[in-house]
Amino acid sequence: MRDVARGWHADGASIGLVPTMGALHAGHMSLVERARRENDRVVVSVFVNPIQFGAGEDLGAYPRSPERDLSMLRAAGVDAIYKPSVADMYPAGASTRVIVHGVTERLEGAARPGHFEGVATVVTKLFAATSADRAYFGQKDAQQVAVVMRLAADLDIGVEIRVCPIVREADGLALSSRNAYLSPSERRAAVCLSRALGLAVEAYGRGERDPGRLRAILVEAIGAEPLAKLDYAEVVDPATFSTPGSLAVLAVRIGPTRLIDNHDLKLPYPG
Ligand code: PAJ
Repeated sequence: MRDVARGWHADGASIGLVPTMGALHAGHMSLVERARRENDRVVVSVFVNPIQFGAGEDLGAYPRSPERDLSMLRAAGVDAIYKPSVADMYPAGASTRVIVHGVTERLEGAARPGHFEGVATVVTKLFAATSADRAYFGQKDAQQVAVVMRLAADLDIGVEIRVCPIVREADGLALSSRNAYLSPSERRAAVCLSRALGLAVEAYGRGERDPGRLRAILVEAIGAEPLAKLDYAEVVDPATFSTPGSLAVLAVRIGPTRLIDNHDLKLPYPG
């Protein structure tokens, strides 16, 4: 990968990177399309990163669709697919980890110990392997975006982080590889996340700024769905993930499946 990237840079071409774990959907492809528009060469990495999954999480069950991924990426005209094996990424003896303090400590970081250490480590390795000039991340994983921006700045990586809007289904559900786990009734219930965010946007639009009351709107909307169990709901600062702020973030269990969603209450709500 590094040899290919060096060749491109020697020719004066810019490189855009889209990191993924495969099981690609229209959310991933929106990142690929933006990278295609803004760079001479586009690399998509496909790697289900074991170190960002906790014990008891869904590493073994994580959806995989290698042939479909390949044809989608071919059709999108990407220049390279970087698909390392676990042994390529973490050979015996590998013992370095990238730890971002502060922004990783609450919410997803608290719910999933070690998760952001795994993300920060693999993303740093992907930046190094691809020499990317720009890298594309989805707002869907808002705290991941904050972590990656922090590490790119702190480690002087010189990659520009570009954040792309959340792609949603017609009923508002944010696209996610994990939506494949939902049964038909759970799929109907899952719309409670985007509905809750929509209600919070409405309240914010009416002038509501009290973080406790905005949070209560989210909690109540999730509580109204019998199949949903709230993990957390907060209104935080999008860069630091501390309170107060205007970014409403949600994590909800629908049966065994854990879904996340978010929306900046200052922005109009899609749909
Ligand atoms: P993965 O879940 O495959 O997501 C890859 C990228 O697609 C992430 O930046 C994610 O935010 C974005 N994405 C997912 N669903 C989206 C949607 N509905 N709309 C817009 N963007 C969406 O996130 C990861 O993989 C991993 O943590 C990774 C960064 C690859 C490191 O292993």
